[in-house]
Amino acid sequence: MLLKMQLYSPKCIYKTFLLLTSIWLFSACNTDFDLKKKEDSDNTRLLAAYLYQIPGGAEIQAEARIKIGLLPPKTPGSESDTPAQITLGNKIFRDNTLSLNHVQSCHTCHPLDGNSAGMDSQSTSRGTSGQIGRRNAPTILNVGYLPIIFWDGRKQNLFDQAVAPFLDSLEMALPSEAELLTRLQNNSSYTGLFQNAFPDSPAISINSLRNALSAFERSLVSKSRFDDFIEWDLRALNNEEKQGLKTFMDLGCTNCHSGYLLGGNQFKKLDSFYSYNTNDLGRFEFTGNQDDKSFFKVPPLRNVALTAPYFHDGSVRTLKEAVTRMNQYEMSRPMTDSEINSIVTFLKSLSDKTKSN
Ligand code: HEC
Ligand code: HEC
Repeated sequence: MLLKMQLYSPKCIYKTFLLLTSIWLFSACNTDFDLKKKEDSDNTRLLAAYLYQIPGGAEIQAEARIKIGLLPPKTPGSESDTPAQITLGNKIFRDNTLSLNHVQSCHTCHPLDGNSAGMDSQSTSRGTSGQIGRRNAPTILNVGYLPIIFWDGRKQNLFDQAVAPFLDSLEMALPSEAELLTRLQNNSSYTGLFQNAFPDSPAISINSLRNALSAFERSLVSKSRFDDFIEWDLRALNNEEKQGLKTFMDLGCTNCHSGYLLGGNQFKKLDSFYSYNTNDLGRFEFTGNQDDKSFFKVPPLRNVALTAPYFHDGSVRTLKEAVTRMNQYEMSRPMTDSEINSIVTFLKSLSDKTKSN
């Protein structure tokens, strides 16, 4: 903080001004025309680079703090998670032997290594024997903050959700919970890991598996340059990105993509003139309530530039197309093409800092 204050002190700005003026004077005295032209453009670039660094957008930051908010440093419930539980959860998450034919793990559809952002880049995921799934896999990053699990909200929390993929016939396709337990018990490398993770109840159990997987998922906190911007550093976003964020808020994207995940906390109906897969009735399939027909969770937008294709059915291939389609929703007015581009530029700043777009 102190360093930053010094950097932008009047003294420092004055010094930089003097430096730039002398560079300009020096180049103006140079008689070689070509050289001068080159140096002129170098100087312009230097000046532009300098001006670019001047922090602005404090009002945008203040508005974003209200309309979006700061990501809490820890996911709810993670306070009591131990490293041993996270290690065990990570191993289970990547274990192919826990699918029917030993081919697939959670990590197959929610890959995390390299630039992978916790989803498989498929329109709809394929199961362990190549079965075609119904929905687009959401990212597993920041899933510990989610108040609503799945596109239709049919699970309350990660603990409830943890066993479902092992048994889902379109995913890992194990016949029963008993089979899952047997496979864990037959693998001796799990014995010590369960003991370390749960010293009070060291026996391998489905309950402990649920706890370990949830602890691992809660540890997958992903932060972006946007977080630096909203928390403390006005320079973390460039001017185009700040402008895009402003447009995002002005046009009412935050009416639905609200809160620090930029979505994930409500369901909306897809009043649509685009054709959707009518075999998927969204939340209605879980609640049976007519009013829930075609309601889906508003997806969180963190890491969105890394998680194409888009929408619950993966029918939208590019981020620009996904944003363009929002014109059909409750927007304060239709977006222009340049506003769409500006918003896309902003959305890219929501990517995890360790992964690139
Ligand atoms: C075959 C691919 C596949 C496998 C394997 C898989 N998932 Fe998923 N996962 C999906 C899809 C598709 C969805 C969205 C399903 C829906 O909303 O109906 C999803 C959703 C989730 C969600 C909810 C995310 C959200 O934003 O609502 C969590 C958490 C999750 N999976 C964890 C896991 C865990 C843990 C495992 C391993 C036990 C696993 N998944 C295995 C494809 C897969
Ligand atoms: C009325 C609520 C609403 C508003 C307003 C809204 N969205 Fe959405 N958005 C949704 C819903 C619902 C989906 C999921 C659609 C689906 O899965 O079929 C979605 C999906 C998206 C996606 C795709 C994300 C993914 O992972 O699949 C992007 C990107 C997006 N919205 C950006 C925006 C932007 C940018 C704005 C403002 C210009 C905006 N949205 C305004 C409700 C809304």
